[in-house]
Amino acid sequence: MHWAGIVNHYRAHLQLDPHAAPITLLEGNTPLIPAPRLAAEIAPGGELYLKYEGLNPTGSFKDRGMTVAVSQATHAGARVTICASTGNTAASAAAYSARAGLRCIVLIPEGKVAAGKIAGALAYGAQAIAVRGSFDDALALVREISMQRPIALVNSINPYRIEGQKTAAFEIVDALGRAPDWLCLPVGNAGNITSYWAGFKQYHAIGKADARPRLLGVQAAGAAPLVLGHAVDRPETIATAIRIGRPARGEEALAAAEESDGRIVAVTDDDILAMWRRLAHEGLWAEPASAAGVAGLAKEVREGRLDPKGKTLVAVLTGHGLKDPDAVTTRAPNMKTIPAEINALSALVEDAELRM
Ligand code: F0G
Repeated sequence: MHWAGIVNHYRAHLQLDPHAAPITLLEGNTPLIPAPRLAAEIAPGGELYLKYEGLNPTGSFKDRGMTVAVSQATHAGARVTICASTGNTAASAAAYSARAGLRCIVLIPEGKVAAGKIAGALAYGAQAIAVRGSFDDALALVREISMQRPIALVNSINPYRIEGQKTAAFEIVDALGRAPDWLCLPVGNAGNITSYWAGFKQYHAIGKADARPRLLGVQAAGAAPLVLGHAVDRPETIATAIRIGRPARGEEALAAAEESDGRIVAVTDDDILAMWRRLAHEGLWAEPASAAGVAGLAKEVREGRLDPKGKTLVAVLTGHGLKDPDAVTTRAPNMKTIPAEINALSALVEDAELRM
């Protein structure tokens, strides 16, 4: 059967008005890529898979939640959607709103959103507004305005977002034929970890999964309210997608981690960048935040808190590397420029061969 998007595929398992027509860009059905070489390095004896969510239509996992949220909003008669975003939600909301013929307004923290995300939101025709403040400030603003006016709020405090994002858990179980032992993923506003847990629990409850995984949620050390146990007023991290100090679903994320016998940990920006490079050397270019889940897994194994032997480990790569080109170009080791002469090229090719 050809793929028709997550609503058409998983509708029986989703809370969505039965009369709502799917607004879809055929999101979901993303690959679960085995990474044996990386596993041998960071989780010896374990079987490691990477769920490559960057291959969704707008380049991140947000599309799973957005197809459901925008389908429902459209069905309910909304004309305008709004969200606060570190970028990916904005691009996704803009695309699905455009698909539905709705206006879309996105609020982003000024100067802290990766170029590919802003470009996406603008290309899809959203009204983008930069807020002089953090993501958390922007979220407070959109919460308030959506109570004052008939605007559909499509942040992950919208329950339909959670419904859609559950489908990533369904896909993992469907692909493996069982639940993994561990599911590792970055945590920002905490909607995604909440969704995965809801999805795994649901699949287990209806007999589609033999078990439920333990969850390893991973925050950036400079933006780790769930690890510190308190809000962070000025979150800072290179992984701007998860630069969040007051996660809207923080309580649920902590409850999910505990209920699953897992935990939420923090990794440094250096850990994130090192893993981000390592993933690219696997042929998987994700955005920096996406590397946090794998970096957290590597750290837990390295420090003896997680035994990977005989375990099935899944880490989620939440967004595509193309989202944040500056992360590469500002760190590019060396791009060389030469005159259009064969001798100049020969010298460099010889050099490159020697370095292989
Ligand atoms: N990875 C990426 C690439 C993200 O964009 C986000 C969140 C996360 C991980 C964390 O997911 O918030 O559900 O815990 N991005 C949001 C946004 C905040 O506005 O695009 P979460």
